[in-house]
Amino acid sequence: MISVEHLTKYYGPFAAVNDISFEVAEGEILGFLGPNGAGKTTTMRILTGYMPPSSGRVIVAGCDIFKDSLEARRHISYLPETVPLYTDMSARTYLDFVGKIRALDGRKRKARIEEVAEETQITEFMDKLIGKLSKGQRQRVGLAQALLPDPDVLVLDEPTIGLDPRQIVETREVIRSLRGRHTVILSTHILPEVSMTCERVVIINRGKIVAIDTPENLQRRMQGADTVDVEVRGPAEAVQAALKAIPQVTDVRQRGNAPDNLVFSVDSEIGVDLRERLASTIVERGWGLRGLRPSTVSLEEVFVQLVTEEAPAA
Ligand SMILES: Nc1ncnc2c1ncn2[C@@H]1O[C@H](COP(=O)(O)OP(=O)(O)OP(=O)(O)O)[C@@H](O)[C@H]1O
Ligand SMILES: [Mg+2]
Repeated sequence: MISVEHLTKYYGPFAAVNDISFEVAEGEILGFLGPNGAGKTTTMRILTGYMPPSSGRVIVAGCDIFKDSLEARRHISYLPETVPLYTDMSARTYLDFVGKIRALDGRKRKARIEEVAEETQITEFMDKLIGKLSKGQRQRVGLAQALLPDPDVLVLDEPTIGLDPRQIVETREVIRSLRGRHTVILSTHILPEVSMTCERVVIINRGKIVAIDTPENLQRRMQGADTVDVEVRGPAEAVQAALKAIPQVTDVRQRGNAPDNLVFSVDSEIGVDLRERLASTIVERGWGLRGLRPSTVSLEEVFVQLVTEEAPAA
């Protein structure tokens, strides 16, 4: 549905986006993840036809976003980083205005406005002037505006920014419900957002792609070992020695240090589940087994690792 080929954007001598390529399949939700200044907004502006690239091209629904701009844009809705809203219009008037621009006709437009208002939970302030809405409320009007034409492709630049926790959860629900029906690119630097809503992630740093993968694979790729955290009550040295003696255990590191509450990270070869062996080893010796859980690298750690690496490992 979307194909980005060797996209580069210079601001003066500075390459904000530097030769990036990726594809988004129809119905897929792709996360676009990167630290501040990585080039997310720049890429999205090019993708939506707001700005030409310095080189490279973007194909959306079979149309070149620049050569065939009008046709391509018919397929796209865009929620920009800062939503350009008319502050002297009510949300309802504004959505009606957007609906007209997007060529939704009369009755259909009205029904559709009600529908997206429900979906983005803005019904209660639909007739208030946008200038008098809170930041989070405006953000939701912005999302409603993007959903309104029921577009094939949605480009959402930090859609949950400025929302309260409950609204964040609900907005993610709305986005997740688009899967299969719409193709979505969503930028964020909130990692849980990516694992909760996206099937695949593009990680971008300083204008270059450093990884493209599923959230799960990214986590696995970074791990290199299967690790179980074990919480034990017992004599530290003896416990450590006993755990180390288990075949297939490659390393044991002590983490917690309270005498009543020792915590060890136990590494094994990948794919070996040692939990039962660990449990029986501890229990047989009469020590107290207080907890046992597989430890995973968080997506945060993956992210930090990827964006701090010198050489990009695409
Ligand atoms: N109009 C512009 N003129 C010059 N430089 C710009 C312009 N817009 C962005 N930049 C620079 O390009 C780089 C990428 O900016 P961009 O807005 O794409 O980042 P981003 O990934 O969206 O960051 P954030 O998470 O902060 O929104 C930054 O270094 C920024 O300073
Ligand atoms: Mg941005």
